[in-house]
Amino acid sequence: MNLSSPLILTNFKTYESATGTNALALAKIHEHVAKESGKNFAIAVQAVDIRMIAAAVKIPVFAQHCDAAEYGSHTGWILPEALKEAGASGVILNHSEHRFASTEELVAAITRAQSVGLVVCVCAENAEEAAKIDSISKPEFIAVEPPELIGGDISVSTAQPKLIRDAVEMIKRSRVLVGAGVKNGEDVRIGLELGAFGVLLASGITKAADPAAVLHDLVSKV
Ligand code: G3P
Repeated sequence: MNLSSPLILTNFKTYESATGTNALALAKIHEHVAKESGKNFAIAVQAVDIRMIAAAVKIPVFAQHCDAAEYGSHTGWILPEALKEAGASGVILNHSEHRFASTEELVAAITRAQSVGLVVCVCAENAEEAAKIDSISKPEFIAVEPPELIGGDISVSTAQPKLIRDAVEMIKRSRVLVGAGVKNGEDVRIGLELGAFGVLLASGITKAADPAAVLHDLVSKV
């Protein structure tokens, strides 16, 4: 599994263009661009799509969430072991759209996910939250995403470069991803220049008329 910098991690969320058979097609586009460009792309897909997609592509496949559940009677929870067995390489935790109710629950999920060998990417809404997570756990990645910019047209790189700088300075143990509104190569270039390891993005790809062209553009300046 190649997760070196610059890493472009696309979160498929629950976009129609990135669900089921559409998710499979979009995953293959990512794999194709990864091969053509020689750059590192990973994808985070819905839990029900993991087995199908992980069997079809060689790029790393992440889940979008898991719980700290154990084998047993936990109806509806997402078990880390099940993700791993389905072929997931990693998992996103604490996304703004799926936050844990408490820090304790988040740390428990990080620990459980890492114990089964999943690479963990924890999301934080600001540099302070990221620093707190970094001080009490050691996820492989912390993705800093200002919620107000998620899904919008203004990128974190252009609107909040200071946030990226602060996060890079305050996060000591994990690699830093930045996200929210990331759409093009310039956004990626700025993020990396400010010290980020890579980017986490969604709508720039899932809403694109030509996702392959956008993926190529994302890595065109690095
Ligand atoms: O997980 C990625 C994310 O929340 C950013 O979404 O649509 O602003 O790229 P988007």
